[in-house]
Amino acid sequence: MKIIASNFKTNHTRKSTKEFVNAIDKFLTDNKIDNEVLIFPTATSFDNFDTVKNLKIGAQNAYYTKNGSFTGEIGTEQLDEFAIKTILIGHSERRHILGETQKDLTLKYNYYKALGYKIIYCVGEPLEVREKGITETLGYIWEQFEGIDLSYDKLIIAYEPVWAIGTGVVATAVEIAQVHKKIKKKISQPLLYGGSVKPENLEEILEIDNVDGTLIGTTSWDVEQFKQMIEITSKN
Ligand code: PGA
Repeated sequence: MKIIASNFKTNHTRKSTKEFVNAIDKFLTDNKIDNEVLIFPTATSFDNFDTVKNLKIGAQNAYYTKNGSFTGEIGTEQLDEFAIKTILIGHSERRHILGETQKDLTLKYNYYKALGYKIIYCVGEPLEVREKGITETLGYIWEQFEGIDLSYDKLIIAYEPVWAIGTGVVATAVEIAQVHKKIKKKISQPLLYGGSVKPENLEEILEIDNVDGTLIGTTSWDVEQFKQMIEITSKN
């Protein structure tokens, strides 16, 4: 059964997040949809949401600590308050805009793995790497696996080409299939695709071999579009 995840990034307020989560919860219940649905709101919108089991709330980011002096960060003490046991690690915006290094990500990964969190670990190449070809693209992705235990059973990987994130440019089915096939040779856990997924292209993406679901940004912030994409996911 395919997975669908919504990454809110720096969008929605506490109020609109609550409305969104409640609407999705109701939608899943009313339509008896039991696909795994993940929502990553901003940390300021965390709450003790009462949802169906297959709807999980995760953290877009947290530091590898319980608590301490890490200004601007949150740790597991704050996540525990909301029973959050799911985290995104390695998203391209954290790597490329916020400057997280592979070493930072490895420390974070190992910390949350030791605590048994479900980890959605993101990888993906920038445009200049993709333009050099598939060998360079795969080489770049393998480096993003350095220090990452790919045998961890609560791992989900998301392949998100950087040039396809938030740009409206989606990778072609051939490009997605090629990379997914290679990554799947290394893992048995689910592998998601992310990058400009929308209601109009979701079905086609879900039909590609080795695509176990999607991680969606922009189009998922609208509750009606997200519902539509959940419905499509449940039928594929
Ligand atoms: P996008 O973002 O759907 O807006 O391209 C995807 C992501 O960053 O996870």
